[in-house]
Amino acid sequence: KKTDVDLYRQLLTQLNSNADANGQPGAVDRMIDVRRQLTEFQLHYKFGMDEVLTKINVLREEFEHTRDYSPIEHVNYRLKALERILDKVQRYGVEANLESIRHAIRDIAGIRITCSFVSDAYWVAEMLCSQPDLRVVEVKDYIRSPKPNGYQSLHVILQVPVYLSNRTEFVYVEVQIRTVAMDFWASLEHKIYYTYEGEVPSDILDELREAAVQAAALDKQMAEIRDKVTALREQAPH
Ligand code: GTP
Ligand code: MG
Repeated sequence: KKTDVDLYRQLLTQLNSNADANGQPGAVDRMIDVRRQLTEFQLHYKFGMDEVLTKINVLREEFEHTRDYSPIEHVNYRLKALERILDKVQRYGVEANLESIRHAIRDIAGIRITCSFVSDAYWVAEMLCSQPDLRVVEVKDYIRSPKPNGYQSLHVILQVPVYLSNRTEFVYVEVQIRTVAMDFWASLEHKIYYTYEGEVPSDILDELREAAVQAAALDKQMAEIRDKVTALREQAPH
């Protein structure tokens, strides 16, 4: 009884057989090779992302065991889908080969860390960036300098060593660190942006900008409350 794999192999052999007159690999061989390269390409980003996620989990668990609270609220991550990578390659006019893409597109592996307080965002960034095996390529502080639309977040582009069988590859990982309030704002803004396909009406833009100001005010107020409570607890007899 023939298995699917046998049939597949037979089909590929047939497709491939006549393309081989002067010893060049056939079309199917080339297709399989491209596919293999793409899978490997994506896998390396997964490895890099896993490395950073482990580091974040170490911090998180350490805090949960030794202190009464962790600066890390939650962590999300994603690998950019191939189609989205290719969109971006086109938009940015990147040369369509893996080597150029590796250099130009730095958010193929993306991690988002949500914190309770603004000071925690900086603290977490500092703890990550000071790890000696990570290369800090760029820090974009949209908390100190929000984007014109109101967007706030701390972006860190890292290069993470991935130890492969025959070499070490440094893989870009984008880490976005922000507060719950900033994250709430960014997720709504993102949905609105897509709803209007980038052409957001100006009154809505104004409201979003105002909402970002309020999110920042809320962050500030929450920190003040926390500081007050901390001070009271330190005064109180134990
Ligand atoms: P890309 O925007 O990814 O092409 O890179 P860039 O060089 O402009 O970097 P930047 O740090 O500005 O943005 C990187 C990522 O941050 C984006 O892919 C989004 O995930 C997020 N981001 C940046 N700006 C905004 C914004 O205005 N709104 C929202 N919701 N997210 C944003
Ligand atoms: Mg951008």
